[in-house]
Amino acid sequence: MQSVPVWDFPTRVFHWALAVAVIASYLTGEEEGIWFVVHTVSGYTVALLLVFRLVWGFAGSVHSRFSDFTYSPGSVKTYAKQLLRFNPPRFVGHNPLGGWMVFLMLVALAGTVVTGLFSGEDDGGAGILLPLIAAPGGEGLAEVHEFFANAVVALAGIHVLAVFLDWFLTKENLVKAMITGRKDLDDTEVGNQKPLVGRWRGVVAAFIVAALGAVLIQQTDFAAIASGGAESEHHSERDEPNDD
Ligand code: HEM
Ligand code: HEM
Repeated sequence: MQSVPVWDFPTRVFHWALAVAVIASYLTGEEEGIWFVVHTVSGYTVALLLVFRLVWGFAGSVHSRFSDFTYSPGSVKTYAKQLLRFNPPRFVGHNPLGGWMVFLMLVALAGTVVTGLFSGEDDGGAGILLPLIAAPGGEGLAEVHEFFANAVVALAGIHVLAVFLDWFLTKENLVKAMITGRKDLDDTEVGNQKPLVGRWRGVVAAFIVAALGAVLIQQTDFAAIASGGAESEHHSERDEPNDD
């Protein structure tokens, strides 16, 4: 057995930063004032991480590429059967079910951040794209945003349970691999491995994301956001139960 790099540095930073930013966003979604500024910043972080992951799905190292974990329905079925017999094979990259779970999480996250940009009310605590769909005082996509956010949290919960189940069944510590980037591979697996991509690709991807982040920050009125938020007076009036 030989310890070989499998997850490149940008993929690992993406993963752990995403986990922190998603948790921070979820905890602050219903807050107001400075905590709603935190919501906006952590939400933007999730959005930028997703843009990075889109680029990295084509330009990243082999196991980070979308093509590496787009498995056919046949392979998913075979894998699921083996899993049901508590005897799943071990994969160097994402396994067939795990691969589709990654896509599902990325889609749910994309739905969350896009609808977030169209959420809120024009009391200050609103996404920057809300004016495109709502007249002054009108409502945005907060309900859809909340639905997607709950879907993300449900999927992430299943994801973490699945990681531990896989660890238990295959005896391979996947969490450690997502931290160090390395896995112990046998000689055949080592022979089949491609080296990780060079550092400059990560730097270029980081620049693209930073440029986009600068535009987002420049377009955002943080002072207005600090004065509004999901629990602002205007908003809670709308939420009175006697509406219907
Ligand atoms: C909100 C929380 C989380 C989200 C949204 C999330 C999302 C993801 C995503 C998108 C990937 C794919 C990585 C890639 O190819 O880019 C992934 C992989 C992974 N995540 Fe998470 N994750 C979360 C929390 C966690 C936690 C808490 C753990 C550890 C206990 C964890 C362990 C892993 C592992 C081990 C992998 C690699 C799985 C494999 O080997 O196929 N994740 N996660
Ligand atoms: C670009 C990123 C994001 C933006 C601009 C954004 C914006 C907003 C806005 C304006 C609201 C208030 C809606 C209202 O009037 O009730 C909100 C609420 C919320 N957001 Fe986000 N958000 C983003 C990302 C996220 C993410 C990544 C999550 C979690 C996964 C999340 C979870 C929530 C939750 C749980 C609420 C409370 C929903 C409710 O009860 O009304 N948001 N967000």
